[in-house]
Amino acid sequence: IGKHVYFFETVSSTQTIAKQFIPLKAKEGTLIIAEEQTAGRGRMARKWYSQKGGLWFSVIVKPNIPIKIAPQLTLLTAVAVVRAIKDVLPLQPKIKWPNDILINGKKVCGILTELQSANGSIEAIIIGVGMNVNQGKNNFPKDIRPIATSIFAESGNTIDLFSLLKAFCVHFEQLYEQYLQHGFKEIQTLWEQNCDTIGKEVVATTIRETIDGKVIGISEEGALLIKKENGKVSEIFSADLTNKST
Ligand code: BTN
Repeated sequence: IGKHVYFFETVSSTQTIAKQFIPLKAKEGTLIIAEEQTAGRGRMARKWYSQKGGLWFSVIVKPNIPIKIAPQLTLLTAVAVVRAIKDVLPLQPKIKWPNDILINGKKVCGILTELQSANGSIEAIIIGVGMNVNQGKNNFPKDIRPIATSIFAESGNTIDLFSLLKAFCVHFEQLYEQYLQHGFKEIQTLWEQNCDTIGKEVVATTIRETIDGKVIGISEEGALLIKKENGKVSEIFSADLTNKST
């Protein structure tokens, strides 16, 4: 990736721009980057705060895989983000299922994967990555300050955004090639090694129900597996997770 790069100063959302590119036959690996977004989007239709100082981009990929396993790409991306951050600084980022990267328990990066499909097959997958990099703690809106952080806030270091993006591209490309050649199993292992959700007692809130239990891993499709008190295992595809208070 990174051979076709489109850089913008201000856009509504790099995801939206990426979607406009697809009908124009965007090449696999096309990157759309913006210095700031005025309508950055997060999961579950949430707003994603994207002022200058962060790294906001979308990657377009076109793997020949069934729609059902597309979430695997989100997990792969999370591993690439962890590796990229570790390349630039001696920090210990951890993955919180499905797509949050945390440093010291606070969110430093989010990933939003969106699908463009036609006739039941994937036309393109747009992977949006938002990384809080050089923003100060007080740059975040008050309501997210307790849960959000940046690389600068955690380390005191200002990072060159381009170096971080380059590190991400190197890791993403390597993992993506590995994925296309060997499948998800190896990526799943890497993801689990970098995840701090596994083994935890959690409460998962889905649109339908609230489930609590112990996280025992993820499925092949990237669903979270929670073992409930009655011993039954629930497979969760989309939810908000909180740690169970003991
Ligand atoms: C989340 O954790 O809810 C996902 C956040 C994803 C944010 C990124 S920033 C680049 C891309 N453009 C967007 O509008 N969203 C993603």
